[in-house]
Amino acid sequence: MADSTEKHGPVPLEQRPPEPTDIAPAEGTLGVLLPGLGAVSTTFIAGVQAVRSGKGRPFGSLTQMGTIRLGGRPEKRIPTIKEFVPLADLDQLAFGAWDVFPDDAYESAKNCGVLDPVQVEDLKEFLTTVRPMKGAFDKRYVKKLDGTHVMETRSKREWAERLIDDIARFEDENGCDRMVMVWCGSTEVFMERAAVHQSIDAFEKGLDEDDESIPPSMIYAYAAIKSGVPYANGAPNLSADVPALVELASENGVPIAGKDFKTGQTMMKTILAPGFKARMLGVRGWYSTNILGNRDGEVLDDPESFKTKEESKLGVLDYILQPELYPDLYGDISHVVRINYYPPRGDNKEGWDNIDIFGWLGYPMQIKIDFLCRDSILAAPIVLDLALFLDLAQRSGMGGIQEWLSFYFKSPQVAVGLYPEHDLFIQLMKLKNTLRHLRGEKQITHLGLEYYTE
Ligand SMILES: NC(=O)c1ccc[n+]([C@@H]2O[C@H](COP(=O)([O-])OP(=O)(O)OC[C@H]3O[C@@H](n4cnc5c(N)ncnc54)[C@H](O)[C@@H]3O)[C@@H](O)[C@H]2O)c1
Repeated sequence: MADSTEKHGPVPLEQRPPEPTDIAPAEGTLGVLLPGLGAVSTTFIAGVQAVRSGKGRPFGSLTQMGTIRLGGRPEKRIPTIKEFVPLADLDQLAFGAWDVFPDDAYESAKNCGVLDPVQVEDLKEFLTTVRPMKGAFDKRYVKKLDGTHVMETRSKREWAERLIDDIARFEDENGCDRMVMVWCGSTEVFMERAAVHQSIDAFEKGLDEDDESIPPSMIYAYAAIKSGVPYANGAPNLSADVPALVELASENGVPIAGKDFKTGQTMMKTILAPGFKARMLGVRGWYSTNILGNRDGEVLDDPESFKTKEESKLGVLDYILQPELYPDLYGDISHVVRINYYPPRGDNKEGWDNIDIFGWLGYPMQIKIDFLCRDSILAAPIVLDLALFLDLAQRSGMGGIQEWLSFYFKSPQVAVGLYPEHDLFIQLMKLKNTLRHLRGEKQITHLGLEYYTE
């Protein structure tokens, strides 16, 4: 193997690799707890089981398919990510869930209609073993659902205690060595940060007083963090993205990440918009509309839940295009996002984008995208990667917000005072550089000038 130090002189101090982090081994069983056993969760669980039994391939998952380049290009060191960092193996995963409907993962997968019925039948024996615990639920926060499989109590303090008990019981019954939680529940109504979210004292007082500003998703997050279980939020609800829970996560050394899985139309936006900006092409308008007919679509048919989603989707372009830096190119964009509930389409959403761009001398051009996508097929590998990376973060002693996992989210959770990074390619670089950092490898800068000096 080429020795770059010998060839290009001593490595300057600032380029010396960091000390590798002590990472505890990924031994034993990793419990993956999922509030919400709907389309995304069942597609994830069934998919993992299919891969474990050699009946499918984990396409779309960076932890399973991705590689990482180490050192200079001549070194040709490109291991797979799972060789490079110690991740739990798919065989080590055990699944737990809560839902407000009693269907097990088999019934739910059948109803959701994401996977081929033949494939669901084939996995029936395993899927029927994943039965949801009763959900902590209040219809005021998800207006379109009439949950029947819900905890009897409506006191928020008792919900928290019940969830903490559920987590401990699951750990015990499944012999888990570690656990992670990924929120795959419905999108709740729009909510802004309030006084009760500002500190953990205020939050716990709010639990005692049944404060309206504490929705169920926040209580699941609280229960997870209290139990030392890393938490990721796949929906746009605030959930763990409030100072009180960030404080608790940092104090307890528990990794958290969110919000809103980056799939479908927003994923396309975060691929295309950086390209337009890189080439200094202007954008006058971006109209996105889509039809979907799954339960998520039904929930988002309620204007209050849709508002939560809309906020999450609209932020993306502003952060990527930076109109304050490029007012002539992006200062006056008309950005519209619509979601229409259309039952015949089921989970196979269709998303249309009309993008009005302009180039040299202001000449206008248009781009039309018709993305016949499968939402849950795009989301399932994200759940897997988040579960494995959150577990890695915890074994590496990284508590609090995990900004390096922004890659997976529409509204990345970041420290106060920072703006979120939305560009998919910068996010990927941040993720891989974090892995290099953990293993004591140099960051990749892509400068490459050393190859052209005498
Ligand atoms: N599918 C995607 O690509 C995608 C992308 C980004 C975000 N999301 C978000 O992920 C979440 C899951 O999506 P989905 O398509 O699986 O939706 P889904 O409607 O199929 O599943 C959500 C499940 O959560 C349950 N639920 C609701 N409130 C609950 C509570 N308080 N406790 C326990 N269970 C509860 C519902 O009964 C339902 O079964 C949604 O919030 C969605 O907006 C999905």
